[in-house]
Amino acid sequence: MQTADPVAQATAAEVTAAQVAAAEAAAAEAGSGSPFARLGVIGCGLMGSGIAEVAARAGLDVAVREIDEPALSAGRKRLTSSLDRGVRGGKLTEADRDAVLARLTFTTDLGDFADRDVVIEAVAENEQLKADIFGALDKVVTRPDAIFASNTSSIPIMKLGMATSRPEQVVGIHFFNPVPVQKLVEIVPSLLTAPATETAAEGFVTGRLGKEVIRSKDRAGFVVNSLLVPYLLAAVRMLESGFAVADDIDRGMVLGCAHPMGPLRLCDLIGLDTIKAVAESMYEEFKEPLYSPPPLLMRMVDAGLLGKKTGRGFHNYSA
Ligand code: CAA
Repeated sequence: MQTADPVAQATAAEVTAAQVAAAEAAAAEAGSGSPFARLGVIGCGLMGSGIAEVAARAGLDVAVREIDEPALSAGRKRLTSSLDRGVRGGKLTEADRDAVLARLTFTTDLGDFADRDVVIEAVAENEQLKADIFGALDKVVTRPDAIFASNTSSIPIMKLGMATSRPEQVVGIHFFNPVPVQKLVEIVPSLLTAPATETAAEGFVTGRLGKEVIRSKDRAGFVVNSLLVPYLLAAVRMLESGFAVADDIDRGMVLGCAHPMGPLRLCDLIGLDTIKAVAESMYEEFKEPLYSPPPLLMRMVDAGLLGKKTGRGFHNYSA
């Protein structure tokens, strides 16, 4: 369905053209032999699909890899639904959406990533799984100065770099949910990341994807989760102890502190399994009780009450 608003259509087209022009200029400025125009995204869940969408909307050639056909088809559907939402909201025309889809390819074969300039891994927060993927990528990608990035929230980049023969090309590029909305990306070099990789990653994220960057040392949680996760866990403990009910905890922070959503609803948006995994990594790194996931969070994950993605977490989304 075409949007009825010609101004919105024109604006969307201008933004797309401007982004592509800025991307080309940034790549030229970066002085990288050839531009970083071919992106591979591993994992097409909440974060991977958002990263792939933002990149394809910015004019990049994007290949997306999932583990099997059902996961691939679910990822493709998630991405298409998000683009359809953009069309319904007047941010994209149907032609824009089709052009974006034409820039995306979907595969279950990591071998299809041989020609990628940048690869961003966005699978579940599992260190062994991620390390195995980095080891496999190292053997597949042919470009000598390709960037290997992880969207991990909490796993040390050093451990992923050491799974490859080129840790100097491995860097954290951490996006925020929902990726099409949140401007921030954390850039996380490990002790062995080359300055050229860090600069190229930053140029890619700001110039190509139009995001804003902050830098963090390679410590579990990086900057944002180090501040956010203790706050979210405190809200879970407050609920667990009977101090206040979920609605009041959330309304308190929305109406009292002008947060866009309360902490328990934010846990539901991020996914309780992800919060648990991030908290565990941070606890393992620092041994601080404030990072330790409370029993209620653990039991909800055991029960499959993972938040918005499963229809129920601290709030109910099935209606
Ligand atoms: N994809 C694309 N656009 C989306 C979107 C999505 N998934 N969700 C919302 N939007 C857009 C809407 O289209 C709308 O755009 P316009 O204003 O231009 O029309 C805008 O965002 C607002 O959306 P809604 O009106 O539907 O809903 P809202 O005002 O309640 O906003 C929200 C929803 C953007 C999620 C907002 O509540 C918010 O920013 N919440 C905080 C999210 C946050 O803190 N994220 C960080 C999580 S931490 C993390 O990701 C790191 C980690 O490692 C765990």
